[in-house]
Amino acid sequence: MAENATLKLNGKKYEIPVVKGTEGELGLDIKTLRGESNGAITLDPGFKNTGACQSAVTFLDGEKSILRYRGYSIEDLAEKASFTEVSYLLIYGELPDKKQLEEFESQLAEEAKVEEGMKTILKGFPAKGKPMGILASLTSALESFHTDLINYDSEEDMDKAIIKVLGKFPILVAWTLRNYHGQDLVEYDKDLGYVENLLQMMFKKSGEEYKVDKTIESALNKLLILHADHEQNCSTSTVRIVGSSDASLFASLSAGVSALSGPLHGGANEKVVHMLEGIKEDDGDTQRYMEKAKDKNDPFRLMGFGHRVYKNFDPRAKIIKKSADEVLGQLGIEDPVLKIAENLEKEALEDEYFVKRKLYPNVDFYSGIIYRALGIPTELFTVMFAMGRLPGWIGQWREMRLRNEPIGRPRQIYIGENKREYKDIEER
Ligand code: ACO
Repeated sequence: MAENATLKLNGKKYEIPVVKGTEGELGLDIKTLRGESNGAITLDPGFKNTGACQSAVTFLDGEKSILRYRGYSIEDLAEKASFTEVSYLLIYGELPDKKQLEEFESQLAEEAKVEEGMKTILKGFPAKGKPMGILASLTSALESFHTDLINYDSEEDMDKAIIKVLGKFPILVAWTLRNYHGQDLVEYDKDLGYVENLLQMMFKKSGEEYKVDKTIESALNKLLILHADHEQNCSTSTVRIVGSSDASLFASLSAGVSALSGPLHGGANEKVVHMLEGIKEDDGDTQRYMEKAKDKNDPFRLMGFGHRVYKNFDPRAKIIKKSADEVLGQLGIEDPVLKIAENLEKEALEDEYFVKRKLYPNVDFYSGIIYRALGIPTELFTVMFAMGRLPGWIGQWREMRLRNEPIGRPRQIYIGENKREYKDIEER
């Protein structure tokens, strides 16, 4: 605990305890302020400057471009680890040893099946329904098939639900894609790994053998790791806040998927590719779009640029840019939108408007280009993001429960009408 801060309000002084994080961040603990001060609260729409919890999962420093999961740098993890290793790390706090990883992966494989009723639900959706809506519904539907896993009296109970959902989620993701294409569903193959399975369940053609391309597997593994956690972002905060009401893991994750679907959060990668396509069709005139992005009377924003916390390069964007070059090179794909993206990035980094506001490319700026190269339709990009973010949501949910955090319930400053008399309808 650092020394207290002092607040002076209406002539009275209040001692505010200061909490210090392991990386030196300071938080003013105002838990008791309202009670002591007869009603004063802090006001911070969008929680731009509000810490909702103390967490040991992910550290990021937006000014210094640092992102670490459980202390390990994102650069090391993206380069060296597998997605299942990173999932274990985020959820349980340590990298698994060989035996732990084998056991974890075999538990996940054991759960990699879904009930016939789930297939019926999926088939009820229109093929071109909104994929994130379908994924959120399927995640929420899991709860009804596993009613024994919605109350958690112990860590063991929680773990059962965690393994269940982590094992089944790739199926939900892959089948959302197959439903989109109107294709038959492909089952999990116990001889393949987690990421390989995701690919074969998405892309295997009926009656044909599917050989996993190592370049594609490694690029997807990296993308999933880069998206796996990002501390208290919109969807993660949603998962924690829904879970804080003692709602089940399935319900909390379904809410997380819905939060991620918005274009200002996970939906941005889809918007980036639409934007790049639009610029391509408009003779590749990046300069015109730069002007539109800067014009305050034009609602257009440069998608994939800017970030609530990064006021410097998003470290994930750097890794993804390199990976996009490698994947396209190795697969022999020439994608004209990559060139447009590079031009936009160059122009924005030299433009006073973007420099002054510290707007840099974020994780979504290049990820869509890789997803396209892997054969994933634009409308499904955010579903892939959800697949990556799943272990982060789970790790944060588990932490929230183990720390016995109270139910999330923000306050407000009321700005509506004062008390007035009810009038009968004839008198209004
Ligand atoms: N293009 C043009 N101007 C922008 C952009 C952009 N992409 N992003 C921010 N600005 C401007 C704003 O107009 C504002 O200008 P002003 O100070 O003159 O009013 C200033 O930069 C600050 O912007 P805010 O919206 O206040 O920043 P905030 O931190 O609230 O928003 C956000 C961050 C939502 C990501 C924003 O930068 C944005 O809309 N970016 C495009 C969407 C996007 O890429 N989202 C993905 C985020 S990453 C993720 O969720 C995984």
